[in-house]
Amino acid sequence: MKRIGLLTSGGDAPGMNAAIRAVVRSAIYFGMEVYGVERGYAGLMEEILVPMEMRSVSNIVQCGGTKLRTARCLEMLTEEGQKKAVSTLEKYGIDGLVVIGGDGSFRGAKVLSEKYGVPTIGIPGTIDNDLEYTDYTLGFDTAVNTCLDIINKLRDTMTSHERISVVEVMGRHCGDIALYSGIASGAEIIVVPEIKVNMEDIITRINRSRANGKHSNIIVVAEGVMSAEQFAKQLQDVTTYSVRPTCIGHVQRGGSPSMADRMLAAQFGNKAVRLLKDGIGNRVVGISKNNIIDMDIIEAVSMKKKFDYELYETLQMISM
Ligand code: F6P
Repeated sequence: MKRIGLLTSGGDAPGMNAAIRAVVRSAIYFGMEVYGVERGYAGLMEEILVPMEMRSVSNIVQCGGTKLRTARCLEMLTEEGQKKAVSTLEKYGIDGLVVIGGDGSFRGAKVLSEKYGVPTIGIPGTIDNDLEYTDYTLGFDTAVNTCLDIINKLRDTMTSHERISVVEVMGRHCGDIALYSGIASGAEIIVVPEIKVNMEDIITRINRSRANGKHSNIIVVAEGVMSAEQFAKQLQDVTTYSVRPTCIGHVQRGGSPSMADRMLAAQFGNKAVRLLKDGIGNRVVGISKNNIIDMDIIEAVSMKKKFDYELYETLQMISM
């Protein structure tokens, strides 16, 4: 393989820049050329491609966002869009593609591989941690740390005023951000899309914690269930404690990547290029039991994300 393309797609995630750097530098190491595609798949439609050199990726390992920018590209769902993408790749002599993104981005990569024979490697880049085949996705660790920083501050003021804080975190279909930030911040309750809300049980837990001497409560709600504002309203109707909503929002998607995300980025990027160098495509890279792995892209996108009920029970047992 002589020339590869690289794009970031879907919602950005901290660590995407570090992964871009790892891909570009690894490819150059193996004597390959790299074209960066700007604005995700939209850049393939609009032909926004830039050659990337060693120095194009200097000083970005520590930066949030993505240097290549990103977009959610509906055209990639149509046959016409897919053909346009393939013809741009052919025009630029690109014989392999690395896609950094989440579930939706992988579906685009799968089509390019399966239907059009473009060797493609997916790197899981999303704060949601919603891909079953990998233990962690790039950006998840940093996003959870951002949530922790905010929840710690909320705990201070909630305790002073003896209030309940309802904190909304991202995650439309997947409760992992709520689960991990809930456990790591000592939140008493998490509300996730995978488990039906039980307001009676929530009130019982709050009252028990207050009877045990607690002066505040933190409830972490995943956005897929409802907004912090809606939840706080419902809760305020059934409790005498004062409730305050906070939506963390897109702050979760920015910021300098954590050590864990930079390490993943380096290893995912390097692995992706090693596969392409060996002429292997149609794979995704990930981490499983602390090992960097790769898997068939069709198999990976067909796996349904499982919720970790044991971790949920752990939270229930230790946060009271
Ligand atoms: O997929 C990543 C994610 O951050 C989700 O957690 C969230 O629901 C969504 O993107 C928000 O998308 P947008 O930035 O387009 O509003």
